[in-house]
Amino acid sequence: MAVTEPERRAWVAERYRAAFDAYIAPARKAAEAPDFPAARRRNIESAAWLSDHLHEVPVHLFVAGRLRRGDPQFQSVFPAIQNVLLACRAVGLGACLTMLHLAHGRQVDEYLGLAEDNPSCALIAVGWPAVAYRRPVRKPVDEVLHFERYRDADEKDAKKKT
Ligand SMILES: Cc1cc2nc3c(=O)[nH]c(=O)nc-3n(C[C@H](O)[C@H](O)[C@H](O)COP(=O)(O)O)c2cc1C
Repeated sequence: MAVTEPERRAWVAERYRAAFDAYIAPARKAAEAPDFPAARRRNIESAAWLSDHLHEVPVHLFVAGRLRRGDPQFQSVFPAIQNVLLACRAVGLGACLTMLHLAHGRQVDEYLGLAEDNPSCALIAVGWPAVAYRRPVRKPVDEVLHFERYRDADEKDAKKKT
C-alpha cells in the first residue's frame, strides 16, 4: 500500500512520532552521558530526523502480511521488504524500514482499510536522499561468521577450564 496524499502521510506521521518519542526517550537520556558512543548518538539523531520529517517523505509504503493460527506472519514478508530496499537503492532512492507504527497497529490498519487478518507489518519510508549514499562500514566477515558453535561460547568455556 503506497500512501502518497499529504494529509494521509501527516496522519501516519503524527502516530509514528508519538510512538517514536516514547521509544527513544531512554536512549536520549542515556545519550546525555559524555562518554556515550558517537556512532550511536548519530543513529539516534538520524532516527529522530526521520520521525520529525516523516510527513514530508513522499511515499509511505506499507507492507501487509497474513495471520497464521491467529498470529501475524511478519517473517514471510521480510524477504520482499529486503527486495524493495535493494530495488530502491539500485535506482538511487532512499528507503528506511520502520515498524514503530505498530504501536498504533489496528488504528493505522483501519485507516488504511486493512482487515484484521491482513495486518500491516512494516512501513518503508521512500524518497530521494538528501545526501549522497556512502558505502556503509562493514565488519570483517571473520568477526560475524561462526563455524559450528558461537565462538564466544567456546572462549568462555575454555576460560572456565583454566
Ligand atoms: C525490523 C526492523 C525494524 C526497524 N524499525 C525502525 C523504526 O521503526 N524506526 C527507525 O527509525 N528505524 C527502524 N529500523 C532501523 C532502520 O531501518 C535502519 O536500519 C537504521 O535507521 C539504520 O540505518 P542504516 O541501516 O541505513 O545505517 C528498523 C530496522 C529493522 C531491521
